Amino acid sequence: MAYALEDEFGDIIGKARRGHDLSLGQVASSAGITEAQLSQMESYALKPTGAQVHKIAGILNLNGAKLADIAMERWAPEPVTPGYDDALEVVTITALVGGWPVHAYLLVCKATNEAAIIDTAAHPDTVLQKVEETGVNPTIILLTHAHSDHANGLPEIERATGCPTYIHANEPKPQSTQQLRTLKHGDEVAVGKLSVKTLDTPGHTPGGCSFHTRSTVIVGDAIFAGSVGGAKISYTDLLSTVQNYLLSLPDDVKLFPGHGPATTVGEEKTHNPFF
Ligand SMILES: [Fe+2]
Repeated sequence: MAYALEDEFGDIIGKARRGHDLSLGQVASSAGITEAQLSQMESYALKPTGAQVHKIAGILNLNGAKLADIAMERWAPEPVTPGYDDALEVVTITALVGGWPVHAYLLVCKATNEAAIIDTAAHPDTVLQKVEETGVNPTIILLTHAHSDHANGLPEIERATGCPTYIHANEPKPQSTQQLRTLKHGDEVAVGKLSVKTLDTPGHTPGGCSFHTRSTVIVGDAIFAGSVGGAKISYTDLLSTVQNYLLSLPDDVKLFPGHGPATTVGEEKTHNPFF
């Protein structure tokens, strides 16, 4: 079976190695393997032994047991099924960008049928088609971050829906038809009767953020099932804000990432090797 995670062993150790600013050679020599072997492991051309997984985990400050479960394909999160909350619905919109699946979401208030469009998946047509199919009334656009696979096509969605767009104050601003409204940690916006709170989760980008309401968080590329987004801006900030603002939520809180399967706080606390 195809393993369902966005990131597996190779991506995880690559992200952690770059996060610690270590070269292939530095990690390989500490692990007692060659640089070529480590490079092959990061690109999935070479499967590590159990002992090598634990050795590399120790060097990269990852949890060895959790990393081994992923390396040996022993864990994937329990599927998050719709209908878990009477007050809201999360509609996942998946599109391929450069051959890789990206998710945008509709966060729907069941009481009013009003919805937030969260990210664009760079496919405004697909997002607008889902709005039409579901019959929801979009009132607001929220962006987790400005990377092109999450924010391209924003002008088309703005023109079709007339919605205002919100993005974190620290995030670079994508192309838009309007003066973007900015958010900071703790700010709340209304989606029907839902109050959606902004949580700072920077590190993948300068102003990456997550959107939390009730037992649902749309997390963008801050955390993936069993992994994290690439920490191009700050590995320390990414891990600390995910730990403090996401993994501090109750275990049953559902996390919907920009890539890969949805997961829960409990699953990530138990299985994510970065924490
Ligand atoms: Fe991203």
